[in-house]
Amino acid sequence: VSATIEQLDAHAAREALPELIGVLEDAVMGGASIGFLLPLSEGELGAYWESVIASVAGGNKVLLVARESGGGIVGTVQLALEPRANGAHRAEVQKLLVHRRARRQGLGRQLMLAVEQAARVAERSLLVLDTRTDDDAERLYARLGYTRLGVIPRYALNSEGGIDGSTFMYKELEALP
Ligand SMILES: CC(C)(COP(=O)(O)OP(=O)(O)OC[C@H]1O[C@@H](n2cnc3c(N)ncnc32)[C@H](O)[C@@H]1OP(=O)(O)O)[C@@H](O)C(=O)NCCC(=O)NCCS
Repeated sequence: VSATIEQLDAHAAREALPELIGVLEDAVMGGASIGFLLPLSEGELGAYWESVIASVAGGNKVLLVARESGGGIVGTVQLALEPRANGAHRAEVQKLLVHRRARRQGLGRQLMLAVEQAARVAERSLLVLDTRTDDDAERLYARLGYTRLGVIPRYALNSEGGIDGSTFMYKELEALP
């Protein structure tokens, strides 16, 4: 898959709603630890994306997608801009997702590099995130220079009835030249 990374404003995100739901649904069905448990309830993913679109419209979130050339959305990531006064230099990377059929081709890495660029543009020099411990994502973040702070061992319920640990990580960005 060759794909380009795009930033979606609220209008473009609403137009892409079915595709955004599709990428999220594929990740949840694949067992990703991204906030949702199976079985999903009717309208749950749509309602989630509506709340993201509201945050994008309000200027509190940056939404990026990876779009296949001539095709649909195969990946996405969000940057949540910390709204509190003492966190104006800080943002949280959320919901990095690549469709199962497009994984292991570098799109996750491309989305993460694009989100760093978006953070610099938004003058956010500190990025924080958390991820299920030992997930593919944790290796990706470590390779991109994120520092592991530590693990909270029983952090998030999973769809198999268990509880997974989460690794908390951060990265400081150099300022734009
Ligand atoms: C985490 C996730 C986004 C990674 O996406 P991805 O597009 O597969 O990421 P990349 O392709 O950049 O890297 C993944 C692996 O593919 C490898 N890879 C990248 N390009 C490759 C290529 N051309 N050929 C072979 N392997 C390649 C990477 O080295 C990496 O290897 P590793 O897992 O052994 O460390 C994806 O697995 C996903 O959506 N998971 C479910 C959702 C989730 O858990 N998200 C994280 C929330 S915190």
